[in-house]
Amino acid sequence: MELPPRPKLFDFHGVYMTNYFTDNWDNVQNFQARPNDIIIATYPKAGTTWVSYILDQLYFGQSAPESLTTLTERVPFLEMNIPLIPSGVETLDKLPTSPRLIKTHLPVQFMPRSFWEQDCRVVYVARNAKDSVVSYFHFDRMNMAQPEPGDWNNFLQRFMDGKMVFGPWYDHVTGWWEKKQTHSKIHYMFYEDMIEDMGRELDGLCSFLGLSPSEEEKERVIEGCHFDNMKNNSMTNYSTDLVMDFNISPFMRKGKVGDWKNHFTVAQSEQFDEDYQKKMNNSQLRFRSTF
Ligand code: PPS
Repeated sequence: MELPPRPKLFDFHGVYMTNYFTDNWDNVQNFQARPNDIIIATYPKAGTTWVSYILDQLYFGQSAPESLTTLTERVPFLEMNIPLIPSGVETLDKLPTSPRLIKTHLPVQFMPRSFWEQDCRVVYVARNAKDSVVSYFHFDRMNMAQPEPGDWNNFLQRFMDGKMVFGPWYDHVTGWWEKKQTHSKIHYMFYEDMIEDMGRELDGLCSFLGLSPSEEEKERVIEGCHFDNMKNNSMTNYSTDLVMDFNISPFMRKGKVGDWKNHFTVAQSEQFDEDYQKKMNNSQLRFRSTF
């Protein structure tokens, strides 16, 4: 199959997007949620796939229908609308599992109304800005359905300018954080906390979801969701995805906290920190500063 050229970024209601996430806009906005739908919301590269697989394993384990062979089929991507692939909305309309697990990268102000009306649970995952931009850079290098990343220095500047697909990281993480202050059905998690203590984070997640798995069940989930196991699992490693070029970079790349230190120069880090303070100053949201 001949892949179309890489998409272009454009300003969409104040947020940079590509047509792969806006072409189906009316259907996305009119999406009919069900009260037991569970949304996994993230800025790209925050650990979406990790949390999606944890939820998939908690709810369905091995019991999901055999036809759903990859995580992307089991946890459809709501706003995705790439040619020749069924759109996220189409896939969700046919999804046989209950509850439906739904992935989205939408900033909070773009969420379809129905999710709030139905009072659905949302699991939001945030990852520190520096590791997010590094992961995003390698992702855009290998994913032909993303805009051309250019070189690292340029990409970093674009990230600081918010000229990324799904807009500024800063607005995304703080926007969802603000929403959480008035909405009890949002569970706000951090990638760094999951790396530090998955057992603790799993307990918090289960308590939010009202689930009480046995110790054996929890151990099975933790083991299956370990980075190396997900990297070797064709259901979770995106190895069948046609738009990704694993010769450039694998989807399951490093799975570490602090990899930014291998990419940022001292000058880039200082400039980034100064800009970060200005952008995040008004928010109570705090990421770890040492790792
Ligand atoms: S996407 O494309 O936005 O859905 O990507 P997303 O899944 O949010 O993020 C991908 C990064 O998460 C890492 N990852 C993990 N880290 C630790 N443990 C597990 N199990 C795990 N699964 C995915 C993945 O490697 C990407 O991060 P980087 O830093 O690029 O390795």
